[in-house]
Amino acid sequence: MSVSQQVFLRDAMRRLNLTRDVFAARIGVKRRALDTWLLPEGSQEFRGMPEVVQRFVTEIVENEALLAKYAQNSQGGPLRDRIARDGKHQLISVEQFTRDSVEELVRIADMMQPIARRQKVSRVLEGAVLGNLFFEASTRTRVSFGAAFCRLGGSVCDTTGFTFSSMAKGESIYDTSRVMSGYVDAMVIRHPEQGSVAEFAAATNIPVVNGGDGAGEHPSQALLDLYTILTEFSRLGKLLDGAHIAITGDLKYGRTVHSLMKMLSLYRGLKFTLISPPGLEMPTDIIEYVAARGNHVIEQTNSMGEGLKGADVIYATRVQKERFSDEQLEGYSADFQINKALIDQYAKEDVIIMHPLPRDSREDAHDLSVDLNADSRLAIFRQADNGIPVRMAIFAVLLGVENLVQHSMRDVTWSPPSHIGPEDAVFHGMY
Ligand code: NCD
Repeated sequence: MSVSQQVFLRDAMRRLNLTRDVFAARIGVKRRALDTWLLPEGSQEFRGMPEVVQRFVTEIVENEALLAKYAQNSQGGPLRDRIARDGKHQLISVEQFTRDSVEELVRIADMMQPIARRQKVSRVLEGAVLGNLFFEASTRTRVSFGAAFCRLGGSVCDTTGFTFSSMAKGESIYDTSRVMSGYVDAMVIRHPEQGSVAEFAAATNIPVVNGGDGAGEHPSQALLDLYTILTEFSRLGKLLDGAHIAITGDLKYGRTVHSLMKMLSLYRGLKFTLISPPGLEMPTDIIEYVAARGNHVIEQTNSMGEGLKGADVIYATRVQKERFSDEQLEGYSADFQINKALIDQYAKEDVIIMHPLPRDSREDAHDLSVDLNADSRLAIFRQADNGIPVRMAIFAVLLGVENLVQHSMRDVTWSPPSHIGPEDAVFHGMY
């Protein structure tokens, strides 16, 4: 004990906010014994406290501190208030999260799994309508947001592209957003200009989720990527703190990796290896943001083999050709492709390989190879599947119904196949 017995015990009583009588009863000793332990050392009546009591008191105080932390979180109010942006229940950037709040969302996503895996149904969002406004190409983000809303009992109205929207007639973001707010209860927006979704969000008070704003952010993708890493790591018995994450490809224009790096910076002591073709490096503002948090090491290289060594996660991305201004690149060079030979030569045996998808399957693109499809290290389809529970969690939180979900679940009436993909049986028993 670094402090005197008297100071130690007084401090414990103060922290626990207990009188001498109640404290004595709590630690199971006679009041008279406690009094003698509380006397100044050297006084005649002073007695030394047994070591087992000291350990017991330390444990109680530490537990109390943990409980206080949980109580503080719940006193902080609903999650949607803690991640709110400008006082609104909207999800525009991963910067809205702390480690505590993101882990709470992960737990809510876990709770959604029986629904996402088609064992249960819920109707907590019955009557609510989602406006899914996609002004840029999308398959999985648009459909998975829609499916997530439907699986909570809501319904979805979609618009896709500029051609068939009033934006083609010159309508402003402000007008579109305000008008849509009269029709729907939440909006997901994807738009090619960075900052545009924040502009939509400013023009409405209903929940808005950023489904990707140009080369800016893609927060729901970062959340499902984090959820995937945590789920796969718990299967492998690994911790995210201290892990090595290799991120490869077009890091300049890839919004998924911008959001992912910022989100992972909430953890401690990560090593990031950033591997990109010359000219497509990670923007410095993202590197500076991450470097300012959590004691991370950030290394940049153009060499695939070197960069992949020792990685726990390899996160590959597609060339974002649609965002190029003066870059000439058509696809990655052949030696930049992640394939089975490269993984077998350089990567760890328990690495997980991720990709936000779509992967460009044209041969000269040299995107993530299909020759890893039957390799259990390839997590891309498990990652895409995770889009449903995570997006359900986002809606439940933003609409404030997360506490109703658990008790709303009923068994499904149909029987889905035991494995939804042809290769999934290989992974059976992993979870
Ligand atoms: C990504 C996107 O649109 O940013 N896809 C996705 O949402 N899963 C990545 C990409 O298009 O390459």
